[in-house]
This record gives sequence, structure tokens and C-alpha cells, in this order.
Amino acid sequence: MNSIDPRRTPAVSVFGLGYVGCVSAVCFASRGHAVVGVDPNPDKVALLRAGKAPVVEEHLGELTAEVVTAGRLTVQDDPGRAVHDTDVTLVCVGTPSTPNGALTTEYLERATEEIGHALATKDSWHVVVYRSTMVPGTCEGVLIPILERKSGKRVGVNFGVCLNPEFLREASSVRDFLDPPKTVVGESDPRSGEIVMGLYNGLPGPRFRVPVAVAEMTKYVDNSFHALKVAFANEIGAVCRPMGLDSHAVMDVFLADTKLNISPAYLRPGFAFGGSCLPKDVRALTHTARKLDVDVPLLSNLLVSNEAHLRRAVDMVIGSGRRKVGIFGLSFKPGTDDLRESPLIELAERLLGKGYDLKIYDANVVLSRLIGANRVYLAERLPHIGQLLTDDLDEVLAHAEVCVVGSKEPAIVSAVEAAGDGRLVVDLVRMDTADPRRGTEDYVGIGW
Ligand SMILES: NC(=O)c1ccc[n+]([C@@H]2O[C@H](COP(=O)([O-])OP(=O)(O)OC[C@H]3O[C@@H](n4cnc5c(N)ncnc54)[C@H](O)[C@@H]3O)[C@@H](O)[C@H]2O)c1
Repeated sequence: MNSIDPRRTPAVSVFGLGYVGCVSAVCFASRGHAVVGVDPNPDKVALLRAGKAPVVEEHLGELTAEVVTAGRLTVQDDPGRAVHDTDVTLVCVGTPSTPNGALTTEYLERATEEIGHALATKDSWHVVVYRSTMVPGTCEGVLIPILERKSGKRVGVNFGVCLNPEFLREASSVRDFLDPPKTVVGESDPRSGEIVMGLYNGLPGPRFRVPVAVAEMTKYVDNSFHALKVAFANEIGAVCRPMGLDSHAVMDVFLADTKLNISPAYLRPGFAFGGSCLPKDVRALTHTARKLDVDVPLLSNLLVSNEAHLRRAVDMVIGSGRRKVGIFGLSFKPGTDDLRESPLIELAERLLGKGYDLKIYDANVVLSRLIGANRVYLAERLPHIGQLLTDDLDEVLAHAEVCVVGSKEPAIVSAVEAAGDGRLVVDLVRMDTADPRRGTEDYVGIGW
């Protein structure tokens, strides 16, 4: 099989000339690639042939005229020819929602059939690059099998597949293409990943080469987070208004905090939140909104979401079928003995209520030292804690058929890691270890 000459600029075909495809086609052509567009829509094809952009976007009109006149962007009616004449095919067809919210893969499947059919008779290495947004598993579960069936060839052996999500925003898409927030390439094989990442050489921003399904997921994480941010800001505005507060003044202060607010803080999957502030303050804010007759479904569901997460941990222990449980860590976060609204206490309570045989280790929570609010909290919420709680790690380990790890304290992590086989580790904190149980059925992480 001939490979792509690394000194040559790869020729690119683009299937689907909507927003994403048209911007990609024009921008790659402007960066010196020979680009061939394919779209069944005759109006879009006619416009492009005339050097006009089929979608309205800043700078796209001038750039389209320039690259079409220069002969760097052409349009092809025959999808097979487009694949044969290029090294890389970008698939940018639509993936709209069905009425039940599922994703339509119909256009993706049809384009993939055409490409697979063409690959059957293509000798040189070709990379099929999906830019359309698709739920994780679609590429490997639906599209690659079509490519292999239609071509009679094997992915990673005879041709490559990459997933290269598009992060452009409509209205500023050309600027976003040339100044991307990041470039993500999910790859079936390193050679294909290298070729596709090479298309973006010279553009700024961090770059990630990841498994295909990780690349599929990144797009959903981004868009869900953007939606979450908009809804959050709008609900804050909705609560501020009847209180006579200028929400923009409030958010100016919020946004200036780049340590805890606009930062990576609190964005790693782990266990439920708790402690003396978060649950209390979320409750008070949603109560205030209720009093003001302001509907804030996002804020009101934060505790609902937290409860669902706590239940996941309980279910992981129940699902193990084992009854003797060791809980490592009890305070709401390591390095404190504050037990108020600790989700680990809640977890312990629920397991006790279901008759599980518990022992709990937490070096910071030594009963005799507990004073004030903590002592009261413990006395009210978990009165028999004294019999269960110990500062002897080995005692808890000796007891535990299931080790629930709720703290990253090095003593806990290394003891659990060294504890030998036969125990199930339920990791709520993502222990930073090379625990040999990782990846086996004796280890389960709450969000990984
Ligand atoms: N619009 C955005 O800002 C944006 C941003 C990032 C990602 N995305 C994702 O990119 C994908 C494309 O979005 P869009 O807004 O460009 O869609 P679009 O509807 O504007 O364009 C899709 C194009 O694909 C064409 N098409 C359908 N079947 C085809 C086939 N077999 N061969 C060739 N062309 C075919 C259609 O005629 C249409 O012109 C979607 O998955 C979308 O979710 C969109």
C-alpha cells in the first residue's frame, strides 16, 4: 500500500458542505490544500462552483471566491472520484436530533457507504475523518463496520479512521478555525492520527491525540458545559432581579475569581459534594428563589443530582454482593475532621440501614478529639459510630471484603493497594496509584 508522501500537502475531500463542511473546505483550501467538496444539495454545489459561499459567515464570502478562483476548491458530483483524488476525506454531514432526542446517523451512514465503496478500489492510504458530532461508540460501532464491509478492507491496516470534532461557533467560524480553542484527533492508528493532526500544523491551541470514543465524547462535554454555563448565569440573573441586584455586577465578582470559579477546580469526576457550606447554601438560595416565585430548575436540581451520585456509590457496594465493608475516610474531604453533611457519613448510614457490616477508618476523626458542631452532628446522625470507627487501618482492611476509598490520603491509598487480592475496591476519589486491580473486576471507580 502506498503511503501519503509526507512532503506533499494532503489533498482533502469534504463530504457535506453545510456550516462545518463549507468552512473546513474553504479554510483548508486557503491553507494550500487541494480540496474537493461533495454534497447532494444542487443549490449548494452551484453556489460553490460560482465561487459563492452557501452559508453566511464572517470572511467566508471573500475566502470562498479566492480559493475557487485559484482552483484550490472544486466540487465533485461523483463521491467515489472525490475519494480517489484525495488523501483524506472529512465527513461533515448533519446529525440532527430525532423527536426522542436520539441522534440521526442516517446521513453519516449513507456518506460512509459511499466512501467505503470507493476505498475498495483505492490503493493508496486514505484517512476517513469524521467531523460530525456523534455519540461515543458511533464511529467504532456503526461507521467503521460499514467502511470495512463496503471496502473489504481493515481499519488501521488498509485505511485509517479519525474523529476530529469541530469547535467552531457559527458567526465567527472562520476565525475559530484559524484560532481554535484546541485540536482533538481520535485515531484508529498512529499513522492516520499524525496525518490528520498535520493538517493543523501552524495553528495555535493545545492538541490532543486520543482514542476515537474519547474524541466523540469531548464535543458533548463541551456543549453540555456551555449550555450549563448559560443556564446557570440566566438563573442567577433571574434570582437577582426581584432582589434589586444587578446580576452583571454580581457576575463581575464571580468571574474575577480564577482560582475557584473560572478554573479547573471542582471539575474532576469524584464523589458527591458535602460539607458545612455547599448543601446548606444551595438550599438557601433555592429557598430564596421559591419565595420570590422564581423558577430555577438548574439550581433546584443540584442536590437531586448529588443524591443520585450518592446512590451510585451505595449501588456499587450492593452490586458486589459482599456484606463486610471497610470505609476509608469519613470527613467530607481529606485533611479535615469536619463531618457535617459528609456524603461518606450518609453512605455509611445507608449501608448500615441495609444491614451491612461496617468498619470505618479516618485518622482525622478521632472521637475523643471531636468537639462542638461535629460532636453534635455525629451524635445525631451516626450515634453508634464509636463501635465502627477506628484509627487502625489494618483492622479495617482485615475486616473488609469491599474497600470503599473515600480519601486520597497516602496512608490509605498505599494500604489498600498493598492489601492483596480477594477484595473489591470501590474508588470514590480516583486513587493516584498503579493498583494492580485497576482494569480487573476487583476494582470499580465511581466515574471512570
Ligand atoms: N453548525 C455548527 O456550528 C457545528 C459546530 C460543530 C459541529 N457541528 C456538527 O457538524 C455536523 C454538520 O453540521 P452542519 O451545521 O454543518 O450541518 P448542515 O446541515 O449545515 O450541513 C450538512 C450537509 O451535509 C450534506 N449531506 C447530507 N448527506 C450527504 C452525503 N451523503 N454526502 C455529502 N453530503 C451530504 C447536506 O446536504 C448538508 O449540506 C453535525 O454533526 C453538527 O452537529 C456543527
